[in-house]
Amino acid sequence: MANEARIIVEDKEYTCPIITGTEGEKAVDIRALRGDSGYVTFDEGYANTGSCQSNITFIDGEKGILRYRGYPIEELAEHSTFVETAYLIIYGELPTCEQVEAFSSRLARNAAVPNDMEHFFEGYPAKSHPMAILSGLINSLSCFYPQYATNNHQEDLANFDEVAAAALSQVRTIAAMSYRMSQRLPYIYPKKDLRYVENFLHMMFSEPYSEYIPEPEVSKALNLILLLHADHEQNCSTSTVRMVASSEANLFASVAAGVCALWGPLHGGANMAVINMLEAIHADGDDGSTFIADAKTGRKKLMGFGHRVYKNYDPRAKIIGKACERVMNNLGVEDPLLDIAKHLEEVALQDDYFISRKLYPNVDFYSGIIMRVIGIPINMFTVMFGIGRMPGWIANWKEVAEHPNGRIYRPRQIYVGENQRKYVPRDQR
Ligand code: CMC
Repeated sequence: MANEARIIVEDKEYTCPIITGTEGEKAVDIRALRGDSGYVTFDEGYANTGSCQSNITFIDGEKGILRYRGYPIEELAEHSTFVETAYLIIYGELPTCEQVEAFSSRLARNAAVPNDMEHFFEGYPAKSHPMAILSGLINSLSCFYPQYATNNHQEDLANFDEVAAAALSQVRTIAAMSYRMSQRLPYIYPKKDLRYVENFLHMMFSEPYSEYIPEPEVSKALNLILLLHADHEQNCSTSTVRMVASSEANLFASVAAGVCALWGPLHGGANMAVINMLEAIHADGDDGSTFIADAKTGRKKLMGFGHRVYKNYDPRAKIIGKACERVMNNLGVEDPLLDIAKHLEEVALQDDYFISRKLYPNVDFYSGIIMRVIGIPINMFTVMFGIGRMPGWIANWKEVAEHPNGRIYRPRQIYVGENQRKYVPRDQR
């Protein structure tokens, strides 16, 4: 079989090479097509466009498979921690004991935000959305670490270990501080001897004279949530990070842009939207049936359902769904929202509308219920997604920065606006 595709455009034939990925995915390489034929390809929303070659994460959406650096998500969820998985995603290999220790120490050294940055929080209104603060302050880190943020990929890569640790560690600190600011509570500073997740919970919930010590079940659940969000190939925010990185922007600027892209309800903002939806259903006294009927007519959207890539059960949702039950049982908590969520899922999975469109629960469907139980406020849910996604953004920035023949990302468009207009002076319009 020829390893090329032949495209006939208005009776003229063009040959395009075929690229095959390590999992057998095939792509028609159309990079030369415009030069040869004058035609671009059109794919609004990039649903069928491979924007890069990457060796970080593999998804088979039809089969419901997700692997980080070749390791199945199920195995990592069972055996690994967020920090170990972050190392795997960023550096490509599972760390040895010494490597993970050095990585954890580097995270601990970088946990506190620069002193002067503390004043920034005070400038924001108390009701500010923490995603706005997060993106603003992550970008501001480039002012405090100018040696890591030169906008010269070679120089930025020379300091990569340190800048990656600063981004990964401080995203969590900024998140916790923005919460404390919103509540007008004193800041709680990171402690060197606490692990990543425990340190975050400490900064969120400890008080000056009373240390919050989380139940092991709580730390375990949060570790799992972060791990399951750690990367997801070319989603909206990661593509944004790569887009910004392709202009040779530094890591802080690139991942800050990722935070902005994540904020929207069709992406990371869905976890907040799910809880708002479940609460509204509960308040209406509906068991979910009316909502499903409305979703089928397009009047409502079943948040936490559907995915651009998964046309099968999102493997992360399967793991989180089970964890949700376990956490509730072990903490002895009951939440009517969980019953509504389970009922919605049961009904949707038997309904032709959802079956024919291959709409299944995604990662956001159950994650909010766990976060609610462990005390994370709803407007912080998307921030939690951002903390979890940081390793993936960092790894993708690195991949772009290290690309030997990297080019700026710059799609084409089909112009459909007015043409050939003649300027009319203002007093004659
Ligand atoms: N509820 C009801 N109908 C839906 C839903 C939903 N959640 N999702 C898709 N559909 C329908 C959609 O209306 C369309 O119907 P029709 O063919 O009759 O026009 C069909 O299913 C195909 O949907 P689409 O809009 O082409 O799907 P997409 O790939 O453009 O969008 C999505 C994917 C995730 C944005 C969308 O499914 C959605 O809005 N889901 C709810 C928001 C959500 O949960 N987002 C989190 C995604 S996972 C976490 C992450 O990585 O961000």
